[in-house]
Amino acid sequence: MRVVIHGLTKEFMTGKGRVQALGGVDLEVRDREFFGVIGPTGCGKTTLLHIIAGLEKPTKGSVEFVGEKRTQAMVSMVFQDPALMPWRTVEGNVPLGPEFRKQPVPIYKQVTRFWLEMVRLLDFSSAHPAELSGGMKQKVAIARALANDPEVILMDEPFASLDAQTRLLLREELLRIWEKEKKTVILVTHNIEEAVMCCDRVAVMSSAPGVVKSVVSIDVRRPRSFKSMSDPDFIRCLEKIWDLLRYEVDKAMRENHRSREEDTEAEIPRKKNFFDW
Ligand SMILES: Nc1ncnc2c1ncn2[C@@H]1O[C@H](COP(=O)(O)OP(=O)(O)O)[C@@H](O)[C@H]1O
Ligand SMILES: [Mg+2]
Repeated sequence: MRVVIHGLTKEFMTGKGRVQALGGVDLEVRDREFFGVIGPTGCGKTTLLHIIAGLEKPTKGSVEFVGEKRTQAMVSMVFQDPALMPWRTVEGNVPLGPEFRKQPVPIYKQVTRFWLEMVRLLDFSSAHPAELSGGMKQKVAIARALANDPEVILMDEPFASLDAQTRLLLREELLRIWEKEKKTVILVTHNIEEAVMCCDRVAVMSSAPGVVKSVVSIDVRRPRSFKSMSDPDFIRCLEKIWDLLRYEVDKAMRENHRSREEDTEAEIPRKKNFFDW
């Protein structure tokens, strides 16, 4: 399934006025592509994924899924926080999609086993989330997303809250699964290595309001693993993305600083008035 995004803008109304999160995003993600989105904090990456998932409506623009639907669902999303149901076992957390579609129990049990085996958690089927490490919980969330049988998987910084080694491990597992399943994946990350390791192409976004500044092709041989990180092609891609990104990150930091200064200045006269009164 291809994802064609055209002229996407998003404005939020907040107590402080309008916030423009997206400033006109154009993108085309190919069928079965592993596509990355990278950009400074606050540039609208999560908003973009929410719009693609249909959780949020754009102010302007469109998202189209183009191609023949071969699966049960259009999209599944993996969030930064695995958000498992603590009262259910691992086995009970995975088949939310099939359950929602009221598939027969034997079928979704089979689907659950298949995906738990894929993420190597079959031995933990009857454990509860509280008994799992952060990395294992995120693997359950990935199994849940896959068990929904979507055309497109959207991942919002899925490994950001994990320690560095667990992150490496899960990245490799995700790649291994993708090599087998070849679904369309859109991975949001602010980790450049992660983007280069996983993706076929990476969109680099500008600071807020986010637009796509450039799309970089990652010509690093597959299958990729930890060793790929010393491949000269890998390093070249890393440098290319960082060159595009560093200016945006710097700009985002300055703007953040400026808006905080404006906030404090706005507060001072109010306090002065209060004391005068
Ligand atoms: N529901 C919301 N209401 C108001 N503002 C929001 C909302 N969601 C996001 N924003 C604002 O939109 C901008 C982009 O946010 P987000 O998409 O979370 O960025 P990123 O994921 O790249 O860090 C930020 O300024 C954020 O504060
Ligand atoms: Mg985000």
